Amino acid sequence: MPGMSCRIDAAAISSPPATAAPLPDALAWIDHEIDTLRTAGLERPARVRDGRQGAEVCLDGRTLLNFGANNYLGYAGDVRLTKAASKGSCAEGFGAGASPLVSGHSLAHEQLEQAIASLLDVETALVFPSGFAANTATIAALVGPDDFIASDARNHASIIDGCRLSRARVGIYPHRDLTALDALLKGARTARRRLIATDTLFSMDGTIAPLADLAALARTHDAMLLVDEAHATGVFGQRGGGLVEQTATADGVHVRVGTLSKALGAAGGFVAGNAKLIHWLRHTARAWIFSTAHPPGVAAAATRAIGLLAEEPERRVDLLTRAADFWSALRHYELDTGETESQIVPVIVGAPQAAVALSEQLADAGFFVPAIRPPSVPHGRSLVRVSLSWLHEPHDLRRLAEAIARHAT
Ligand SMILES: Cc1ncc(COP(=O)(O)O)c(C=O)c1O
Repeated sequence: MPGMSCRIDAAAISSPPATAAPLPDALAWIDHEIDTLRTAGLERPARVRDGRQGAEVCLDGRTLLNFGANNYLGYAGDVRLTKAASKGSCAEGFGAGASPLVSGHSLAHEQLEQAIASLLDVETALVFPSGFAANTATIAALVGPDDFIASDARNHASIIDGCRLSRARVGIYPHRDLTALDALLKGARTARRRLIATDTLFSMDGTIAPLADLAALARTHDAMLLVDEAHATGVFGQRGGGLVEQTATADGVHVRVGTLSKALGAAGGFVAGNAKLIHWLRHTARAWIFSTAHPPGVAAAATRAIGLLAEEPERRVDLLTRAADFWSALRHYELDTGETESQIVPVIVGAPQAAVALSEQLADAGFFVPAIRPPSVPHGRSLVRVSLSWLHEPHDLRRLAEAIARHAT
């Protein structure tokens, strides 16, 4: 790999020994559980990264082409964000010091919320410490035990946990199945409130939710529609406003959740919508009320990244063009890429052990492509997940497609 130096000594990194010092009795059950995971091919490594996320990444002492980050536009390692973070930290101090409700909401956070609202063309926005917190807190603030949530079977864990936290009755509809969703909502007529919750761009499949149809069903059944744009913000839409912008469905979507941690290269989550919604969340969203605001420098970096979306629209165009070429090449090799339509390209191999083996073979060939296994994907659908970035050159993608074809078939 060209030029990246790596300070990690691979030999110094090792898995924890199977027979470590005896655990206190109360935790002895963990040994058994981990053994079970290992046997099923589901044990997960803890890798150490050295240096910035870029086209390449140094992991556990190996420098590899990086297809494992959600750094879609290349901003996670961009020095312009580092400088903005540093300026924001110097102005407002590093730590936020309190929850936003108390005194943690700095001028940098206020500017970020205005930048998000302007990007998404909504009245206002609320920033959370993470996208995960935004989903869990918002869902639990919108519905309770007398209510009903319809949730896509492939939704992200943070939506699933938000549903659990809310204690609402939850109906899970098969991925993007509108007929099943319609039936679920018909059966929930007597619920006090109804909420449809969906990712817009599904994080493990690269598939896209049918937003116009979901909005129509929400209208028919007097339901709220919450969408999670975590992987679409910055990538889709003419201005980078996500799939709601791209499909012109803003009028039918009541709650837009997103994250600043993926294409925007920073950290934190947000909810965007009308003033009434955000006013309610300020009184009820527990992760906003009871958790320290994320550092002001991080907010400043995220605001800078939103500015870059307007300055560098070519990045999202290039990314999606190259993604289409890439998944076409994989399909040409008759690999199973599911129904992706985005910069997230799964190669579905089935068994967890097969996904791990493919990931390891790709690493030996110089590519970092993580294996994704249950519970992140359903049983029988383990895969390697290729996350494309604007930083990748077309010839890198051709080489990767050839390597996957060589090792997966
Ligand atoms: C669809 C989706 N929603 C929410 C999140 C959580 O975002 P964050 O990483 O900012 O907590 C993720 C993260 O992987 C995600 O994939």
